[in-house]
Amino acid sequence: MNKYLKIDPWCIIEDTFSRENHPASESIFSLGNGRFGQRANFEESYSGESLQGNYIAGVYYPDKTRVGWWKNGYPEYFAKILNAPNWIGIEIQVGGELVDLAKAKVLSFRRTLNMKEGILYREYHIELASGKQLKANITRFLSMKDPELGIIRYSLVPVNFSGRIGIISSLDAGIKNADANYDEYFWDEVAKNFKDDCGYITSRTRKTEFDVCLGITTRILNGEEVVSISPTIEQREKYLAFHYTPEVSKGGAITILKYAAVQSSLYHKKEDLMDQAELSLKKAAEKGFENLLREHKERWEEKWKTSDILIEGDDEAQQGIRFNIFQLNQTYTGDDERLNIGPKGFTGEKYGGVTYWDTEAYCLPFFLCTAPSYVARNLVFYRYKQLGKAIENGEKLGFTEGAALYPMVTINGEECHNEWEITFEEIHRNGAIAHAIYNYVRHTGDKRYLIDYGLEVLIAISRFWRQRVNFSESRKKWVMLGVTGPNEYENNVNNNWYTNTIASWTLSYTIQLIAEIKNMDEEKYKILVSKVRFNEQEEIPAWEDIIENMYYPIDKESGIFLQQDGYLDKEQITTDQLDPAQQPINQHWSWDRILRSCFIKQADVLQGIYLFEDHYDTETIRKNFEFYESRTVHESSLSPCVHSILAARLSDMEMAYKLYLRTSRLDLDDYNNEVDEGLHITSMAGTWMSVIEGFAGKRVRNGRLVLNPQIPEQWESYSFKILFRGSRLKVKVTPKNLYLVNESNISAALIVLDESIQLNGQEEKVMKMKK
Ligand code: BGC
Repeated sequence: MNKYLKIDPWCIIEDTFSRENHPASESIFSLGNGRFGQRANFEESYSGESLQGNYIAGVYYPDKTRVGWWKNGYPEYFAKILNAPNWIGIEIQVGGELVDLAKAKVLSFRRTLNMKEGILYREYHIELASGKQLKANITRFLSMKDPELGIIRYSLVPVNFSGRIGIISSLDAGIKNADANYDEYFWDEVAKNFKDDCGYITSRTRKTEFDVCLGITTRILNGEEVVSISPTIEQREKYLAFHYTPEVSKGGAITILKYAAVQSSLYHKKEDLMDQAELSLKKAAEKGFENLLREHKERWEEKWKTSDILIEGDDEAQQGIRFNIFQLNQTYTGDDERLNIGPKGFTGEKYGGVTYWDTEAYCLPFFLCTAPSYVARNLVFYRYKQLGKAIENGEKLGFTEGAALYPMVTINGEECHNEWEITFEEIHRNGAIAHAIYNYVRHTGDKRYLIDYGLEVLIAISRFWRQRVNFSESRKKWVMLGVTGPNEYENNVNNNWYTNTIASWTLSYTIQLIAEIKNMDEEKYKILVSKVRFNEQEEIPAWEDIIENMYYPIDKESGIFLQQDGYLDKEQITTDQLDPAQQPINQHWSWDRILRSCFIKQADVLQGIYLFEDHYDTETIRKNFEFYESRTVHESSLSPCVHSILAARLSDMEMAYKLYLRTSRLDLDDYNNEVDEGLHITSMAGTWMSVIEGFAGKRVRNGRLVLNPQIPEQWESYSFKILFRGSRLKVKVTPKNLYLVNESNISAALIVLDESIQLNGQEEKVMKMKK
């Protein structure tokens, strides 16, 4: 835990410079615009600890796998979204001395991330070894309007001297990944060009052959006037720079404006990349900084209109939730169905920027409720497009007849993960992908999606479950052996309750849909049947048998669903008996000790109860919640949010709030001392869920939006928006009243505080909160 940032409802502020905190701040103050993302590295030289990072969506490298003991079925590579060429470099030299905050005396420093506008500001006042003092004021943003554009304005004031200063504006493609498995370079230079006052480097990723062209152009301004000085050009392999040596006078400001175009072959033909970069730079220069900034702010204003959560009476919570929403919106904008959401987004190298079940289980609900419907659709469609590879992945492991096993980790549909107990066994991910289809359709009402794509995925996943279970003669039940549930502190277990539950649910849902779709569009159904060779007479009864006779471990006496066979054989200890000095246990205990203990990394049985809440009565939920919460160490960031939602479901608001705090400021307060590696982007969506699904009790049932709000006693009010089937609802919750406004012209069917209401377009309603 490290609380060094100032509390503010819209900004993240660091107001003193600390070399120790800088790597964490590089993650926290990261910027992104869905297409690329940049850690908050300094523009000028910095000799202290730093993880340089610029990541371009979809541009990855298949790094050779490193494993101790090879197992058949392991993938050959681990795909990584690469650290890409560095466009931000602006080196400053004063009398031969480099500006370097690790070496200079820092007299004042302030870094502000304005989340409302998506802008990073930085100010410093330093004294160099020579005694010369310099003040700087820096603004940086990655345009949300033109997502191939990064912009920096760097203003300098020489405080106590006049003379020449050296400015080196660079583009560096000699970039490595800090986590390269064999310390290799992943980029080759394809071309370097200079045209007018712009410089370009086109680089190619090895093996995957993505081309990216980065172009930079720099202007030096004295006040508002462009100073006409011709730079000298420096170039070497994978590097180019423009050197300027303007005259500065004491107290006068000099400003460096740098535009960078970031183009990749995902969006342009390789042969056009440089022309596109040139065009982009030209347009940027023509528009000018202020216009670009205005357009960028307008885009953010649009985003906040539908995604903001306003909390009154608790600035810490307010800042926390906005930070989560801000980072989610920076990471995924949903305009490209090929892209997805890495657990660390564009803020670090860990997890390689690739796709996990996190997307379906955690991120989808956020985008469903806060973004235009195509955004969530693209997330779901991503898996449809990878169905063929998921079937191939199944085949590699011995499954047949169109059974799909989606990868644990992927970028292009191929499995990239290589620990057998997860790659081959953590198969519940298939269930999350099936459930996401259900979730998408129940929220949007887009049944067409099921006919066109969803059912095909569901049939393939159902086929997998059928082959993955086996009939136990001794139990006379279907069982599922050798699996890992969401709780990765147990591996290779039999009958993980959650996996059995979601498998059986998938089969039921698929059967139900088949009946519906046959009614809706028989023609289309027939086409699908022949495409996937679906044998209704044989497959459906087999699935029904599994549904009816699936085995679920349960402790009959207490009614607790057992996480897996034999869970109660473990020594039963609760987390309050754990020595805090031994936590997190994954940093203090051997893996063997963790596996033998009863401690749970993240929601597992409770993940199932969360997803299928309507299948259980309140008493069952309570019993299981109390049992598992007291054994869960929450060492995955994905965990506390689910527990918080269930606590709110049980009206235990104190517990719900405690768990909520743990998720909402996880990164800002660096709970796990690891934020320097990057932010927990996917769990940020979980934080959002704990407000909307937890405190506000949002559900969708029978085509209606359900709200059952409660309010933590620490808050005066909270308000949020929900997009639901074309309507936009504003909800404000206070301890006494609930205010609803339908801000759209489309009527919405709701169940609020157990009352069915129809809220017409532009209609408002005030309701009394329950005591
Ligand atoms: C969690 C997984 C998750 C992954 C990426 C792991 O620590 O146990 O459930 O998918 O992180 O966020």
